[in-house]
Amino acid sequence: MSAHTSKDISFVVEPGGRLQGSARVPGDKSISHRSIMLGALAEGETRISGFLEGEDSLATLKAFQAMGVQIEGPNKGHVTVHGVGMQGLQQAEQDLYLGNSGTSMRLMSGLLAGQSFDSVLTGDKSLSGRPMRRVIDPLRQMNAVISAEDGDTAPLRISANNRLEGIDYDMPVASAQVKSCLLLAGMFAEGRTCVTEPAPTRDHTERMLAGFGYTLDRDGSKVCLQGGGTLRACSIDVPADISSAAFFMVAASIAEGSELILEHVGVNPTRTGVIDILRLMGANIDIINEREVGGEPVADIRIQSSRLHGINIPEELVPLAIDEFPVLFIAAACASGQTVLTGARELRVKESDRIQVMADGLQTLGIQAQPTDDGIVIEGGQLQGGTVFSHGDHRISMSFAIAALRCQGTVTIKDSANVDTSFPGFVELAKGLGLSIRIA
Ligand code: S3P
Repeated sequence: MSAHTSKDISFVVEPGGRLQGSARVPGDKSISHRSIMLGALAEGETRISGFLEGEDSLATLKAFQAMGVQIEGPNKGHVTVHGVGMQGLQQAEQDLYLGNSGTSMRLMSGLLAGQSFDSVLTGDKSLSGRPMRRVIDPLRQMNAVISAEDGDTAPLRISANNRLEGIDYDMPVASAQVKSCLLLAGMFAEGRTCVTEPAPTRDHTERMLAGFGYTLDRDGSKVCLQGGGTLRACSIDVPADISSAAFFMVAASIAEGSELILEHVGVNPTRTGVIDILRLMGANIDIINEREVGGEPVADIRIQSSRLHGINIPEELVPLAIDEFPVLFIAAACASGQTVLTGARELRVKESDRIQVMADGLQTLGIQAQPTDDGIVIEGGQLQGGTVFSHGDHRISMSFAIAALRCQGTVTIKDSANVDTSFPGFVELAKGLGLSIRIA
């Protein structure tokens, strides 16, 4: 948990400003979680650099410490995990509290389903309301013994089990968390586990498993592994999180006179939908110095301000930009004409209902934003000042902070403490790059 309760922090952002300079945003959240999980199960010492010191990835780190894994750090992004091997985890003395982190809960439910001890996974109010049936159903098909509250929500109670069986699963939703959950469970299962996704989702688990020496077969949208293998410790350089960089891509695009370089950003093609969508809207974004670091593509990203125009967002880009829609809605509000999003019902079950919460905030700031069942219709216009509510959702808070660049009055964003879950130091970094932002 943050030092503050989630209610007592507001951001106050004065209107105007432009972005100049260069910055490296914190480490990728998805990769940070996975580096702890696989490092813990590996044989040997895994050294991680660039680890995200945010509350979500720290929740994962602490959960593995509670299961007997010796982990040093984080110290300026450096973490050393002393792997215990596939059978080396121990039962935690208490429930594993995972805070706000859906990734921790969904991936760990798979990893823990085949252990020789019971586990209980709990979370904060937001996480305790999020759908877990998407992992419970396929895990039960694998013979896992797992129970949840009515409505299939956390706490999740997972029983000791050494009889998991591999399955061939067609995922009904495009979810990297479900895919990863099942692959992690599959390592502890008898036989082969295969997962087919309806659309490409982030593939960090597959890349990292390969980096730890675990064999996977990929055939189009299907990925399979054989249970009973082992992981070999390795070193991991976590790139900067493109989902955090996205706030400043939009900021520099909408604030006239901006020129910004974001360094060492992960540009895995399963994550770059935000760049594609912004470019379709007329953004001026260059990807430079492309290189590969530890199996993940990395680049510097240069953004110059430009006039954006509304678009119909192609549905195939939705899973590739799933976390970036709150800030893309700000870009749409600053664009000329209409932006239409469809095929994005998943946004309603993120840390908040991101369609409704963003529509409410945009309307407060004077923008026509019409929520639909699976998306939103936004008419670009002139943003006013006002007070908006993030509902404790980190990405909503940061998105409205960026909006202030184009508002006519001060923007106050309530309930912003959870920004620390994914982007510690956001306020200082944003201030250094040109936003007039303070904490109240
Ligand atoms: C994540 C996958 C995405 C994303 C989340 C992180 C991951 O969720 O929204 O922030 O690390 O696998 P879904 O796979 O449920 O869409």
